[in-house]
Amino acid sequence: MKRFEKKTVLITGAGQGIGFEIAKQFHLEGATVLLNDIDEALCQKAAARIDNTLTTCIPFAGDSGDIGFLKDMFAKIDARFPSPDVVIANTGYSLFRTFLDMTPESLRDVMRINIEGTFFLLQFAAKRMIQAKTKGRLIVMSSVTGQRAHRELTVYGMTKGALETLVRNLVVELSQHGLTVNAIAPGATLTERTLSDDSYQATWARLTPLGKAASTADIAQTALFLASQAAGHITGQTIVVDGGWTAISPGPEMVSES
Ligand SMILES: NC(=O)c1ccc[n+]([C@@H]2O[C@H](COP(=O)([O-])OP(=O)(O)OC[C@H]3O[C@@H](n4cnc5c(N)ncnc54)[C@H](O)[C@@H]3O)[C@@H](O)[C@H]2O)c1
Repeated sequence: MKRFEKKTVLITGAGQGIGFEIAKQFHLEGATVLLNDIDEALCQKAAARIDNTLTTCIPFAGDSGDIGFLKDMFAKIDARFPSPDVVIANTGYSLFRTFLDMTPESLRDVMRINIEGTFFLLQFAAKRMIQAKTKGRLIVMSSVTGQRAHRELTVYGMTKGALETLVRNLVVELSQHGLTVNAIAPGATLTERTLSDDSYQATWARLTPLGKAASTADIAQTALFLASQAAGHITGQTIVVDGGWTAISPGPEMVSES
């Protein structure tokens, strides 16, 4: 028996990167995966890469920061499943912009996708889990920038900090229904997006105590752990997966002389 056989896992922003790897790993361990991405062609292609019949990996293309889309997606899911067993709010908009250059429109965009989208994804999911008496698992993708300042990621970091606060607060209302809610805070992770910066891998290998940036599998394995029986008593927590980056503060030897 595979770990997630007969389980349904919904994941947003999973056409590539961390989300795709999580979707793939859950599927390998027996889950039916409901895969969302805003890019319709990528969403379809990603789901087909996992299951080319699209029966055990089903694409749901749309903007996970749009509450109307989330409602439509859940209506379609409701028609086929009593409730998902695991829901992963993975979509994140990492806009690089200085504090002084930030515009109200850009700020709202990041807040809408990262906070509103995650909040209502979890609310819609939790309602269904409670109704179906599913002892569900909710997982939110945070970031080490929710805990440490990072150049040009003020607003992104703010939203990630807010998500970690959300996760703690949901314990108050959802524990009585047997739901757990946790966040993962990845450090630098090698994805299609981050690898488009040629120096990313080498830079983060130098800055990370364990000597390398995370792989998407490092993050996916943490998500599978949080959704597994082994993590049944863990809730309200953020698991940092960063090769030790947040554990240390830069010492004199780590600051390059210029
Ligand atoms: N990659 C990293 O180094 C890193 C580090 C820390 C945290 N994170 C977090 O992990 C999560 C995944 O990061 P990633 O780098 O793999 O993602 P990414 O930027 O590569 O995007 C993954 C997918 O999300 C889709 N997407 C974007 N906006 C969407 C929306 N509104 N609705 C639905 N889909 C949307 C994109 O089309 C893309 O296919 C994010 O929450 C991110 O903040 C990533």
